[in-house]
Amino acid sequence: MTTTPVATTARPFSASELEALRADFPILMQEVNGHPLVYLDSGATSQKPLAVLDAERDYYLHQNAAVHRGAHTLAAEATEMFEEARASVARFVGADDDEIVWTSNATEAINLIAYAISNATAGRGGEAARRFALAPGDEIVVTEMEHHANLLPWQELAARTGAVLRFIPLAGDGTLRLDLLPDLIGERTRIVAFTHVSNVLGIINPVAELVEAAHRAGALVVLDACQSAPHLALDLHASGVDFAVFSGHKMLAPTGIGVLYGRRELLNALPPFLTGGSMITTVTMEGAEYLPAPQRFEAGTQRVSQAIALGAAVDYLSAAGVDRIAAHEERLGQRLVEGLSAIDSVTVLGPGPGRERVGLASFDVAGVHSHDIGQFLDDRGIAIRVGHHCAQPLHRRFGVTSSTRASTYLYTTDSEVDQLLEGVSDAIAFFGAHA
Ligand code: ALA
Repeated sequence: MTTTPVATTARPFSASELEALRADFPILMQEVNGHPLVYLDSGATSQKPLAVLDAERDYYLHQNAAVHRGAHTLAAEATEMFEEARASVARFVGADDDEIVWTSNATEAINLIAYAISNATAGRGGEAARRFALAPGDEIVVTEMEHHANLLPWQELAARTGAVLRFIPLAGDGTLRLDLLPDLIGERTRIVAFTHVSNVLGIINPVAELVEAAHRAGALVVLDACQSAPHLALDLHASGVDFAVFSGHKMLAPTGIGVLYGRRELLNALPPFLTGGSMITTVTMEGAEYLPAPQRFEAGTQRVSQAIALGAAVDYLSAAGVDRIAAHEERLGQRLVEGLSAIDSVTVLGPGPGRERVGLASFDVAGVHSHDIGQFLDDRGIAIRVGHHCAQPLHRRFGVTSSTRASTYLYTTDSEVDQLLEGVSDAIAFFGAHA
């Protein structure tokens, strides 16, 4: 299957623009193990610009109050900033403000959906929630390239409800076997959950085609946007997905903040997952009435500083230009995969050079364990990820137990990619010589 490039119209960053950008990330200027840091692990977590660090610090210096529950000035200011951040994130992904629910991270967001569906299956949520209830034999479809966060919650939901988990397998190049969709998505399919961008293969999945197949069968679509929201322009309304999730820490924000997007009517029909303060209208000793979304899903004292910092992060990404970030990373991704493919004994997992991918590549080195490659590179200040990247079934599909992954972001330079390539070649020579 031929694919088209991610973003051909936007202009990648010039050298001087990139230098100016990098100056916003002080951590990139430090040395690690006696070498300038080469950070190629943004797929795991991104570095944070000063604007984001300042936003969080300023909030603690000047507001710091619990939101949606105080009458004093600081509480009002904190609430306003918290909701402004929600509006920024909503604009950033093409959603309405009340369709953005704060969670701790994407993993919690997927679990929230799965547990809320369990509650609906158990009869909670009344008539409105009945549409979510699963019956034994109903089907949940995922793909073979999911990371564990978008697999285990569905395995557990299937175990709790008697639903059956099915998966869309991969072709040899790592792309989805879309030709099998008519066999896999049918009248028993209730949920289709898939990653937008693979955290191992760098592949961008065809959202429109999957949404169309799922909706034709009357199934709900859950989009895991962990690896796309930081790197590609999203328009969730236009995409037609029913739910989407992503984590702030992969897109310049701190840890501890993530997002569940849901279409308004779905969120308001879904029973809550966590219950407690700030998500109710009235409470008696016997029961409670719940607020509409998003508060319905935000029980307890909220992660205010993290939300404000995520708002600052998406403002930063918008100012840099998401299309330009995508173009920059597309170029880096090609440089990476071309360079890796040219090294003897390296096998890139997923599509080779010239094929659409984001700025990450995972690879296997014949005869050298990924942990050894990682250690060798770390000695040079080069940070990459090794192991199964929370995607064991995907690695099994490719006949390996682990791989080495380099992942870029808006602050990554060509020179850093070249240092990685040189490091991998040197590691192979070193370990080959010592085998
Ligand atoms: N967050 C995990 C990664 O590094 C899955 O890709």
